[in-house]
Amino acid sequence: MNVSLTGLESFVTLQEIAYWREKSQAALETLLDGSGRGGEMTGWLNPSTADAEISEQYAARLRERSDVVLVCGIGGSYLGAKAVAEMLELEPGRLEFVGNTLSGGYNSRILRSLEGRDFSIVVISKSGTTTEPAVGFRIFEELLRSRYGTDAAKRVVAVTNPGKGALRAICESRGYPMLTIPDDVGGRYSVFTPAGLLPLAAAGASVTALIRGARRSREQNLENAVTYATARRALYASGKQLEVLSVWEPSLRWLGEWYKQLFGESEGKDGIGIFPVSLEMTADLHSMGQYMQDGVRNMFETFLWTQSTAAIAVPATADDFDGFNRIAGLRLDALNRMAFDATMAAHIEGGVPAIKLEIDAMTAETVGEFLMFLMLSCGISGYASGVNPFDQPGVENYKSKLRQLM
Ligand code: PA5
Repeated sequence: MNVSLTGLESFVTLQEIAYWREKSQAALETLLDGSGRGGEMTGWLNPSTADAEISEQYAARLRERSDVVLVCGIGGSYLGAKAVAEMLELEPGRLEFVGNTLSGGYNSRILRSLEGRDFSIVVISKSGTTTEPAVGFRIFEELLRSRYGTDAAKRVVAVTNPGKGALRAICESRGYPMLTIPDDVGGRYSVFTPAGLLPLAAAGASVTALIRGARRSREQNLENAVTYATARRALYASGKQLEVLSVWEPSLRWLGEWYKQLFGESEGKDGIGIFPVSLEMTADLHSMGQYMQDGVRNMFETFLWTQSTAAIAVPATADDFDGFNRIAGLRLDALNRMAFDATMAAHIEGGVPAIKLEIDAMTAETVGEFLMFLMLSCGISGYASGVNPFDQPGVENYKSKLRQLM
């Protein structure tokens, strides 16, 4: 993968870049030696192949019994699996996500959709006490037990913390197997634990390849992560408070959601932090393009380019009714790249600094590599900004207020 800062030249000086590079380099060392605040939560730096293998074993059991696997979880116990499933365009309909909303309408629709379909449940909650997945699990476990009776125990796998929580207790009493999110990995950094691996394996992903990519990234992308963190910090210091991640494939829309949780929860605290936003291009150019070009100049844009392997091209028509025969034969990925380059030039001209990230075609390995790169960048950027990138006191606040109201 490649990180390019050529879209920053007219917005930050070389001295500013050098200052933040030094800070980011020091932050990398703090991250790797575990000496910073939250250093006890950096277990994600070493993704485990054993976790991939055990996830594959349990996933095979679920797959042979069910048409659909309900993945019940929220936040870090949801978005990693959802994002990767979309990025890899895994078997449609194999996973349905629940426990991620308190909407009655959504849950009713999923319940109806299970008529005539065999299903299993993967319930994921690191704390084992979060309201949304607890409510979701009640709803769908009840259906599962009434439908499958004693066979139900073979259709539920839980992923939770190693030692405590209501989820662990119920699984012990009902005989549901449990896989573990280690104590030293926080929710938004858990995609390479069974929280991400089990659902993804259940949908047919090669999770060992995902881990291989992540481990390679941990070795090979440290410099790239420092570069990206440097740019983010230099831009924030120069008054750019929002980062817009623009993705250029619809299958990356959920990567944007995962990225927002990763960076938003890691950096937005103590009264500071870059506000992460994501846009899916070119669709969102026709809704947000005006603002990007011409609105408040408090943002920078990170353009993410992914190679496509689809060989589809613009067709010619006999009557050239719309005048587009002039690009007949042009591959859509080449046209998409023209839009990418044109948009970057236009937005820079409009006062939006640009960072460019380029990655290879989506495979389990390149996705693993990229997500690890983003997690490294986030840890570095968080430490360089002076916060603890591994806690989330604000999320805990909402959870406890909701508990009081309930
Ligand atoms: O990053 C975090 O820790 C949170 O956003 C959690 O992922 C989210 O609240 C879900 O928590 P849990 O897995 O404990 O149910």
